[in-house]
Amino acid sequence: MLKVGLIQQHLSCGTVGRDIRLYGTVTSTNDVLKELAKAGAPEGTVVIADEQTAGHGRLKKSWFSPPGVNLYASVLFRPAVPLREVPGFSFITSLAAADAIALEGFSPAIKWPNDVLVDKKKVAGSLAECASSGRRVDFVILGVGVNVNVAPAALRAALGEAARAAGSLGEAAGREIDRNVFAANFLNLLDKWASVFAAQGLAAILDAWRDRDILTGRRVQVRGEGKADEGRVLGVDREGYLVLRDPRGARRRVLTGEIRLAD
Ligand code: BTN
Repeated sequence: MLKVGLIQQHLSCGTVGRDIRLYGTVTSTNDVLKELAKAGAPEGTVVIADEQTAGHGRLKKSWFSPPGVNLYASVLFRPAVPLREVPGFSFITSLAAADAIALEGFSPAIKWPNDVLVDKKKVAGSLAECASSGRRVDFVILGVGVNVNVAPAALRAALGEAARAAGSLGEAAGREIDRNVFAANFLNLLDKWASVFAAQGLAAILDAWRDRDILTGRRVQVRGEGKADEGRVLGVDREGYLVLRDPRGARRRVLTGEIRLAD
């Protein structure tokens, strides 16, 4: 069972997690935290839920969020940065999730922009959302969903074919993972990477992120809202965009989309 006291036992005293709100069932932890943020909740407030009925991810996809097995968490930041720097926040979430997963003994990889994989299967995803007034950032919400102990059969029943690309930590480890310890590790690491981001900027984050990147050098297909793009990944540029060499030899910057490996 998730318990605030058990999470706090493993928490170092940073900004992230100074107020943890634990819920049974919510629509989406990002949506609950958005309301708390609008009502003035301080930076570092965390919303965790045991189950989500309308968990969502990038590209308007839903996030399967069954009760009692996984981590669904959202964290509030109130950064004094220009709006153009907000996309950098999504990289600190996937880095913290990957590092927390590494603490369980895995060698996680990150697939741009924010999928965390273990044994080539997606086990975690993150969603950064932002509210602004003009060019001023009011708040940023970083949400993470981690398949901690969900059973493969439950993934198959919920996701169908797509379950082939999804996994869980418990399945990969062959043992149950302690969700309270995992949640605390994630929050500690998010606090650490948020401090690095604030002190050293996106370059320092991307340096660490590139160590876990699995796409560089691979041939990929990008499926966005319009036509599909194809190319070999050259890397991630200093603003965090994916850079491809397309079949005609031109460099292309990818801003968003779903990436599929093509080799
Ligand atoms: C993705 O891979 O597309 C991102 C998935 C992000 C899911 C998490 S679960 C906690 C938080 N609440 C949401 O509704 N979404 C994020």
